[in-house]
Amino acid sequence: MAIAAVVFDAYGTLFDVQSVAAATEAAFPGHGTVITQLWRLKQLEYTWLRSLMGRYADFGTVTRDSLAYALETLGLPATPAEIARLADAYDALSLYPEARLALEALAPLRLAIFSNGSPPMLERLVAQAGIAPLLETVISVDEIGAYKPDPRGYAHVEARLGLAREQILFVSSNGFDIAGAKAHGFRVARIARLTDEALRSELDAAATIDPMLMFKALRMRPERLGFTADATIARLTDLPAHVRA
Ligand code: LAC
Repeated sequence: MAIAAVVFDAYGTLFDVQSVAAATEAAFPGHGTVITQLWRLKQLEYTWLRSLMGRYADFGTVTRDSLAYALETLGLPATPAEIARLADAYDALSLYPEARLALEALAPLRLAIFSNGSPPMLERLVAQAGIAPLLETVISVDEIGAYKPDPRGYAHVEARLGLAREQILFVSSNGFDIAGAKAHGFRVARIARLTDEALRSELDAAATIDPMLMFKALRMRPERLGFTADATIARLTDLPAHVRA
């Protein structure tokens, strides 16, 4: 069955989560790197924990709570208003430079986002990047009230698009999301901005493992969850050739 739609993960795939580092460093000079990594690691942990607890709260809440956790851990005082203001950095993430070109080149296909982000967060994110006209729709886990990789999320994407799962190519850089999408039966392309070889050289060369390197080791590798991507692609701009092949 031919691919009819390409569905993208947002955070880490189209948008660079590391781009909050400028805001975290400006707010807490000298602590930007560690805040940025703790924040993102804890943010995803809270999505999984809330799912297990049956206590869904939207991604805005999770993003503020995980930032508060990071700051508290480091002993950096911040008021709830300051935390909320800094958390807004997640609505202004940089679009990966090649993302627009890739979306434009795929344009004859139906294009969508499926993300953990809440609808208002995703609306702001997509609007500030100027890619709304390139997307048919933006689908949030909020519509089902369960975070990735809950199988209901991927089933919801299929229903929203009115397509068979084999007609959907799901694109993500996040290992847990790739495993979830593949377990559901989508075709899956992994965007690997870092190869295992490059990561290993960085680990070999490092005297100590800094927070960024720990993040890469934890979140930029394929997961061992029993489901792997159909294709591994270095850049979003390699997708059109993959789709046509
Ligand atoms: C998202 C998470 C996986 O955008 O980053 O859904």
